[in-house]
Amino acid sequence: MPGTELFGAEERKEVNDVMESGVLFRYNHDNLRNGHWKSREFEQALADWNGVKYAHACTSGSTAVAIAMASCGIGVGDEVIVPPFTYIASIEGALLAGALPIFADIDETLCLSVEGIRKALTPNTKAVLLVHMCGSMANLDEIIAFCQEKNLVLIEDTAQALGGSYKGKPLGSLGKMGCYSFDFFKIITCGEGGAVVTNDEQLYNYAHQYSDHGHDHIGDNRGAETHPIIGFNYRIGELNAAIGVAQMRKLPYILAQQRKHKKAMQASLAKFPKVTFRQIPDPEGDACTFLDFFLPDEATAKKVVQALKDQGVPALTGVQYWWENNYHYIRNWEHLREMKTVAKLHIQTVTPPQDYKTLQLPVSDAIVSRLISLVVKVAWTDEQLHDLCNKLENAMKSIA
Ligand SMILES: Cc1ncc(COP(=O)(O)O)c(C=O)c1O
Repeated sequence: MPGTELFGAEERKEVNDVMESGVLFRYNHDNLRNGHWKSREFEQALADWNGVKYAHACTSGSTAVAIAMASCGIGVGDEVIVPPFTYIASIEGALLAGALPIFADIDETLCLSVEGIRKALTPNTKAVLLVHMCGSMANLDEIIAFCQEKNLVLIEDTAQALGGSYKGKPLGSLGKMGCYSFDFFKIITCGEGGAVVTNDEQLYNYAHQYSDHGHDHIGDNRGAETHPIIGFNYRIGELNAAIGVAQMRKLPYILAQQRKHKKAMQASLAKFPKVTFRQIPDPEGDACTFLDFFLPDEATAKKVVQALKDQGVPALTGVQYWWENNYHYIRNWEHLREMKTVAKLHIQTVTPPQDYKTLQLPVSDAIVSRLISLVVKVAWTDEQLHDLCNKLENAMKSIA
C-alpha cells in the first residue's frame, strides 16, 4: 500500500485548498473555486506521466474499466478476452457492459499470454482486456501485434501497475485505453478513485461525457449543456482528486524505494535453486510493487507461505498466496462460477460461450498454485528490510 504509507502535509494542503473554496464538485462554479481545479490538475499529471494526450479521472478502477468498455464501443454480446488472474473488477466491468468475458490462460508473466488469447479467439471477439498484474507487464509486443492482426480493441487494466513501462512506454499507454485505480491499496491512492488514459480524442470525449450523464462539459453553464450521449455518474470529487495531486508528486520516490527494496529481497531468494522468478519482459519497466516467485510445486509453495507466516510475516499485507485467496484468481470466484447476481445480466439471457462452472484452465492453475507474491513496502527502514530478507532465507532453508 505504498501511497497510503506516505500521507502527510502535502495531501492535507491539497485537501484544504478545496475545503476553503467549498467547491467539492469537479465542474463549473468557476468564480467560487479560488482557481483550484484538482481533478483537472490530477488528470494533467496523469497524462504527462503516461505521455498521452488525455486522462480522465473517475470514481474507481472498476468504473474506469466500465468507462473504457463503453468508450471503445464494447457492449451487449461482444466477447472480451480476459485473464483468470486479476481482481474481479476487470471481469465485472465487462459483464456490466453486457459483454461476454472469455477467460484465456496466463503465462509466467502472470498476464494473458498470446497463446491463451489465440485459443480463446472466436469470430465474436471484439476486445482484449489485458491486466498488468502486480506491478509488471505482459509480453506486449506479441499481444499488440496479435490484436492489430485480428482487429481487436486492446484495453489495458493498469490498476496495479502505475509507474510501470515497456520499452520506455508507460503501461496503460500502449492500447486504445488504459485504466487506473487509486483505491486504498494501490501505488498511489485518492482514497477511492480511478482514471482512463488515451491518445484518441474521440475516446476521451466519450469517456468524460459517459462519466457524467452525457454532459458535453463546454462552458460554465451546468444545466444548459447539450448531451451528445447517454451516460451515468462516475464523477470523481475534488477532495479525492486533491489527494491524487499530492500523491502523483510522490510517485518517483515510491518507485525508487520499491525498486531498491525488491532488489534486496530478490537477492535473498536467488540463493535458493528451488526458486524461480516471474518472467518480466522489460525488467527496467517493473514498478516493483511485488516480488513474485515460483516454487517447484503447490505443496512446497504452501510450506514456504506457512514458514513466512510462522515468523510473523502477515498474510495480505506481507505475503500473498493467490491460489487460496478469494479475490484474485478464478478458482475461488464461486459467485461468478455460479452466476449469483441480484438482477439478470445480459450473459444470463444467452447461451454463454464459456461455462464458468466447468471451465478448466490447467496452464494458469499450474502457474498460480506455485506462485508466491511478497508485498514491497516503501517506508521500510534498512533494519526492517534486512529482517524480512532473513525471514525469506529462513523460510527457504526450512524446506531444503
Ligand atoms: C487489476 C484491477 N482492476 C481493477 C481494480 C478495481 O479498482 P477499484 O478498487 O478502484 O475499483 C482493481 C482493484 O483492486 C484491480 O486490481
